[in-house]
Amino acid sequence: MKALVLSGGSGTRLRPFSYSMPKQLIPIANRPVLEHVVESIRAMGVTEIGIVVGSWGATIADVIGDGSRFGARITYIPQDEPMGLAHCVQLARPFLGDDDFVMYLGDNMLPDGVTHVAEEFTASRPAAQVVLHRVSDPRAFGVAEVDESGAVQRLVEKPQHPKSDLALIGVYFFTKAIHQAVDTIKPSARGELEITDAIQLMLEQGAQIKASLYEGYWQDTGRAEDVLECNARLLAALTSRIDGEVDDTSELSGTVVIAAGARVVRSKLVGPIIVGADSVVEDSHIGPGTSIGTGCTLRATRITESIVLAGANIANVPGLHRSLIGRSASVSPSDRGIAQHRMVIGDNTVIEVAA
Ligand code: DAU
Repeated sequence: MKALVLSGGSGTRLRPFSYSMPKQLIPIANRPVLEHVVESIRAMGVTEIGIVVGSWGATIADVIGDGSRFGARITYIPQDEPMGLAHCVQLARPFLGDDDFVMYLGDNMLPDGVTHVAEEFTASRPAAQVVLHRVSDPRAFGVAEVDESGAVQRLVEKPQHPKSDLALIGVYFFTKAIHQAVDTIKPSARGELEITDAIQLMLEQGAQIKASLYEGYWQDTGRAEDVLECNARLLAALTSRIDGEVDDTSELSGTVVIAAGARVVRSKLVGPIIVGADSVVEDSHIGPGTSIGTGCTLRATRITESIVLAGANIANVPGLHRSLIGRSASVSPSDRGIAQHRMVIGDNTVIEVAA
């Protein structure tokens, strides 16, 4: 079996981050989403991985590489415009050939693993097998209608009036039968070739489509709130490890990971948290669910449930909560008097000040 990871797209819901980096490289527990995805694929025993990339292709290839560090071989497949998930399958045909493959959306996190679904698919080889998860608002997803025996009856992409709460989540297993379907469907109302429509067409043509219910933790990391929630969740599963320096006056509790070259001085760290390589934390309080990237400096700051990306500087900020701080960003009090704020902020940035 091969794997096809979809890592193009525009990432508009993750602005302003997606102006300067692809959403699939946002760090969760200090590792890009895409690394978690590649590891999940490797856990299925798959080594031939194609990654569809858009305008951020070179950046993604720089970070992820040729796959050797994962024990895999990665082929990058460029897509000029995000014309839909089924368009990605068309583009990848030369890479996929007639092989079975798992298609994995590059912004989806399924940390509890889907290897059991891969095994089921390989054992019974239906034309396609989809993975479903119960969601509270199915309108934002592909939705499956399933009968009492678990057989898929109908699939609809982002229905206004969903007939079930079973969303298609970012992992699909296909035999070569999908290729005829993606070549037959027409673009949807949003102008994309929808994989949901291609699978629905296979159903109408009598193909066997199986569904597996995924009951573990799942997150589509498309929005900042989702990224923060997923980060907290993954941090909770880490094991404490201190490779950096912690002085005697600092207090650590819960799961704490401190990477090599990081320094913690006169601070209180309440896990689960991770502090990346070469970062400095001084006179600060870091609370649960926080990831500090590499080369950051935090001084006299209190921060909880947040992600600080590489190279950011935060000084004298007493109450940061559920915040995403971008690369090399600087957050500190104004030196122009208490009633003034000075901001140099990018488009679509969200700032909530304590008033
Ligand atoms: O997250 C699950 C949902 O993913 C499913 O329930 C939907 O049925 C499915 O259509 C998809 O919906 P989204 O609207 O969330 O897809 P999004 O545009 O976020 O794209 C998913 C991934 O595929 C993301 O990593 C970007 C990549 N992509 C997307 C498009 C449209 C590409 O590589 N090329 C593309 O043309």
